[in-house]
Amino acid sequence: MNIDYELLMNKAKEASKYSYSPFSKFAVGSAVLMSNGSIYTGCNIENSSFGMTICAERCAIFKAVSEGQKEVLAVAIYSPNEDDCYPCGACRQVMFEFQGENEISVITESQGNLITRKMSDFLPYGFRI
Ligand code: THU
Repeated sequence: MNIDYELLMNKAKEASKYSYSPFSKFAVGSAVLMSNGSIYTGCNIENSSFGMTICAERCAIFKAVSEGQKEVLAVAIYSPNEDDCYPCGACRQVMFEFQGENEISVITESQGNLITRKMSDFLPYGFRI
């Protein structure tokens, strides 16, 4: 499938505006492209009980899976607070769980330019049963 990286990043940026991050003040937005062509967005949602926080990437992926879409093709991540924002370790594992036949593309933005990396750059030798 032809992946529109710019569209995905724009959706991640839009989603970052909905971030609920009063504690860290670190906003993140994400957009995931699924194998059927659908796109889901997510933002980080924090909680007074800090451990309840969910990252933007997992929010987007869980939205997709909860609607029957289990195969991620690409993940865009954006934070207004951080250039070239990477996924955390927990999100890397969740991304890997929902990788299908094609390796996931991970899109970030650095100084206004899109950077596309592969899932295996972030999580080599990923675990799955
Ligand atoms: N966060 C994300 O949403 N995604 C990441 O990949 C990195 C971290 C969130 C979690 C928390 O709300 C805030 O950023 C600071 O860690």
